[in-house]
Amino acid sequence: MTTFKESILQGIPNKIPQEKKYNSDINHAPKRKDTLNTDEKKLALKNALRYFPKEHHKFLAIEFANELKEFGRIYMYRYRPDYEMKARPIEDYPGNSLQAKAIMLMIQNNLDYTVAQHPHELITYGGNGGVFQNWAQYLLCMKYLAEMTNKQTLVMYSGHPMGLFPSHKSAPRVVVTNGMMIPNYSKPNDWEIFNALGVTQYGQMTAGSYMYIGPQGIVHGTTITILNAGRKINNKGLSGKLFLTSGLGGMSGAQPKAGNIAGCITVVAEVNSKAIHTRHSQGWVDEVIKNIDTLVNRVKKAKSEKEVISIAYQGNIVEVWEKFLDENIYVDLGSDQTSLHNPWGGGYYPIGLTFEESNALMVNNPDKFKEKVKYTLRRHSDAINKHTSKGTYFFDYGNAFLLEASRSGADIMTEDGLSFKYPSYVQDIMGPMCFDYGFGPFRWVCASGKKEDLDITDQIACKVLEQLKIGAPSEIKQQMKDNIQWIKSADENKLVVGSQARILYADSLGRIEIAKAFNDAIKEGKIGPIILGRDHHDVSGTDSPYRETSNIYDGSSFTADMGIQNVIGDSFRGATWVSVHNGGGVGWGEVINGGFGMLIDGSRESEKKLEMMLHWDVNNGIARRSWARNEEAIFAIKKEMERTPQLKVTLPNIVDQSHIDAIDF
Ligand SMILES: NC(=O)c1ccc[n+]([C@@H]2O[C@H](COP(=O)([O-])OP(=O)(O)OC[C@H]3O[C@@H](n4cnc5c(N)ncnc54)[C@H](O)[C@@H]3O)[C@@H](O)[C@H]2O)c1
Repeated sequence: MTTFKESILQGIPNKIPQEKKYNSDINHAPKRKDTLNTDEKKLALKNALRYFPKEHHKFLAIEFANELKEFGRIYMYRYRPDYEMKARPIEDYPGNSLQAKAIMLMIQNNLDYTVAQHPHELITYGGNGGVFQNWAQYLLCMKYLAEMTNKQTLVMYSGHPMGLFPSHKSAPRVVVTNGMMIPNYSKPNDWEIFNALGVTQYGQMTAGSYMYIGPQGIVHGTTITILNAGRKINNKGLSGKLFLTSGLGGMSGAQPKAGNIAGCITVVAEVNSKAIHTRHSQGWVDEVIKNIDTLVNRVKKAKSEKEVISIAYQGNIVEVWEKFLDENIYVDLGSDQTSLHNPWGGGYYPIGLTFEESNALMVNNPDKFKEKVKYTLRRHSDAINKHTSKGTYFFDYGNAFLLEASRSGADIMTEDGLSFKYPSYVQDIMGPMCFDYGFGPFRWVCASGKKEDLDITDQIACKVLEQLKIGAPSEIKQQMKDNIQWIKSADENKLVVGSQARILYADSLGRIEIAKAFNDAIKEGKIGPIILGRDHHDVSGTDSPYRETSNIYDGSSFTADMGIQNVIGDSFRGATWVSVHNGGGVGWGEVINGGFGMLIDGSRESEKKLEMMLHWDVNNGIARRSWARNEEAIFAIKKEMERTPQLKVTLPNIVDQSHIDAIDF
């Protein structure tokens, strides 16, 4: 029997492994579009066979051609390893570099069956957010990580390990790029072609950067969003209020849990019974209802009794919006989390078809499928418009709903046609209330795999925040309060899926002080090493004009300097790995996003690195947001300059609008 360590060190096995049966109990990626012509298919095969010795080519060529035909991609299923896919305690990994072991741990966590959406297709979340394109890449990457020293850097091109290159101790151990395209070749259909050729992948945000920690990562952000959306209506709290939305997938699956934490009634429509089953069995959604009339009665009861409850409705979201109109059920808060960053490939299911019929149609007749999606988006928008005319507060949840609805001809633009009728959650909530002050989804993973370590880190983080809250300016006290409340109840909310990980929104000072306190605790032997990171959905990491940077109004939201600067800056300030992606969150060609991972081990060197890197990682974005004239960011960066004399940021001079209006153009 080969041990786990031996399997990793073996890399791609010399002997062809036994065939793996296609297991229908696992949630599989939908069949991808057959977009390649014959010559391109031959090229895709040649590309796939590059990973294997010549003597296997004849055999594997037939099998891979079949995979391409049957699934639209070559996953190399046969090479999926036999060991259990999960994050192990860091010492269980083979290797010469603790940093490289931390990366192996995070890769395995991203592919854990309880964490990943389509684990056999190496997809972590968002329908097509890949860690690797195929199993050969996974095996090779793990082998390189197990062999590397702290004087090498592994270079990852969209899942493909290009190799180990000499570098130095303070350099990142891994540099990841995902989906970096020549700009004119960055349309969704280009992804279909080049991904099928095996030369690029869509890394989403944290999938291809190995920083996904399961839906917990998003529960916190979603809780903050729902709480603050509630504050937009009034300050009387969310008791008895109804939140209607859709999606129980990778990130969207956090909504019912967050709704419960925020204290409202949450109804989430979901067309995929497997996704419902996963969230229900994890206890993330309380009840499942398959009949629309039953749903209506249940919601009426929940409203009259002011229950805190979350309900999954198995069906199309449009049915619910329309039915609630007919039944006069008032929706207080509304949103949507279907995967509209991927509208034609299974991200958004049209009304009038079963889940299975939709999956068949998108492959057999993509044009007709497209028409049906567009029609559904128009109906979806009409129903929402009727609800909002009665007072519902609707916001786009960064899933490109408004963008795709507008492209489908839905009545979703303001009268002048210049903007959407509804705000994105970043424009109204996350941007001004969090990102502009530097608050974002800081996270950590206990590399020991021990629950006790997580408990200790929760206590440390809470203590640090409580201390910081005492001297915090009034502008950020509410955020601090929400975050302290979050970390206090994080354990009892049972948020961990996969590795022992925690997310906690914090600003620059908060992140640095928490990380420093962790480093001290490691030094004192209270806990094992910690992996720090964050979502790309953050202050500085992401240039995304319809999401993270949608509250940048100086015209620069269509530039991507900030995200690129961020990754470059992190890489020479101490990150253990960095990643830069195309399309995270809202789709290929729509955004450039980046992130980092950092292992801290209790050393003085770790302390220096974390201070330097976390400071840049947050303040880069605040500086840019401040230059865009965002008041909250101007406030935050001025405060930071007082604290850090070496920081000198160019501040904007705000022109009196009357001077502009007086000009006759
Ligand atoms: N939660 C957040 O804070 C956040 C932030 C930014 C973006 N997003 C976006 O939200 C979207 C969802 O992310 P995800 O990881 O959950 O994706 P996912 O693909 O895992 O889940 C989406 C779910 O929606 C379901 N669905 C599709 N069409 C439907 C319909 N018409 N009616 C009912 N259900 C339908 C799908 O079956 C799927 O399970 C993505 O576009 C993501 O980028 C979320």
